[in-house]
Amino acid sequence: MAQTANTSHDMGFCTVEQHILSKQGEHPLSTGAFTSVLVGITLAGRIISAKVRRAGILEVLGEAGDVNVHGEQQQKLDLLANKALEGCLCYRESVGIIASEELDEPRIVRETSGKYVIIFDPLDGSSNIDVNVSVGTIFSIFERDCEHPKGHDHLNDVLQPGHKQVAAGYIVYGSSTVMCYTTGEGVHMFTLDPSVGSFVLAQENVRMPLKGKYFSVNEGNYNSFPKGVREYLNWCKSEEAGPYSARYIGSLVADFHRTLLRGGIFLYPPTAKSPKGKLRLMYEANPIAFLAEQAGGRATDGKRNILEIVPGSLHERTPLFVGSETEIERVERFMQEHGA
Ligand code: AHG
Ligand code: MN
Ligand code: MN
Repeated sequence: MAQTANTSHDMGFCTVEQHILSKQGEHPLSTGAFTSVLVGITLAGRIISAKVRRAGILEVLGEAGDVNVHGEQQQKLDLLANKALEGCLCYRESVGIIASEELDEPRIVRETSGKYVIIFDPLDGSSNIDVNVSVGTIFSIFERDCEHPKGHDHLNDVLQPGHKQVAAGYIVYGSSTVMCYTTGEGVHMFTLDPSVGSFVLAQENVRMPLKGKYFSVNEGNYNSFPKGVREYLNWCKSEEAGPYSARYIGSLVADFHRTLLRGGIFLYPPTAKSPKGKLRLMYEANPIAFLAEQAGGRATDGKRNILEIVPGSLHERTPLFVGSETEIERVERFMQEHGA
């Protein structure tokens, strides 16, 4: 009687660390230095996952009693996640600078060494923590030139356009903990096997469906969306379109994870409250856009490719339209015709 493999151990498994190392020869980036950064992120992901999964017991729920640079109430888990990432990254020689949604300014870990700049949203979707809805961690990795004159402004190493990212990814703490990353050679997904504490390869070279009958937007802001966006959403609800199904979790990582796997579109357009959009370019839109493009999708701010935007400041915001190519083209047409 043939044995059917019923756990990852029976089928043999590839951990995320092995996956990076297996590309050692193929990709100049998969050197020990880069692998060390990625291992640091997966370690932090395991720590954060353990805290998220015991949130109700560990007294990590609720507000931390302080606000971040955006004036948003910091949740205890925001700060714990930020601390976990700092702790798992900063002692690694290849880390030069870190920047975070929860830190007003970038942290210069090493002045003249450490070629990687890691920028992250330590906990995305914080408003969902206390009601047990999926949250996540988003990261974006750039390289920097460590040879620079005295008095070099390290901010220039941080404020790079998204197309210069050398890697990006997220960890979504959902019904399972899934890590998804790209180094520019496709998008790969790993599921945390809590019985062994490793992220195990679940899917290589993930491709976003060219079409998808899902739109994901906070329709509470409908009245203040640009006219073209309102017309597009009305089309999605029309007989001609189907209609599409609306899905909105309120955590970018979870809404994007579904869009990556099922296709369709996620949009956070300009609103009256956030005329430049709500999502942050450096640690939300850029990494998500890199993943989307690597999987065959697209990401724009309604006019420009997200990855072409030259950042002016670490915490700047941008509108975000990300998803299947056909949907991005369609919403762009509506905005050209009716106003963006
Ligand atoms: P964060 O928790 O890191 O501040 O991010 C929250 C973001 C993003 O996760 C989500 O897509 C968006 O806020 C939801 O905003 P609304 O509640 O305005 O819809
Ligand atoms: Mn976020
Ligand atoms: Mn956050």
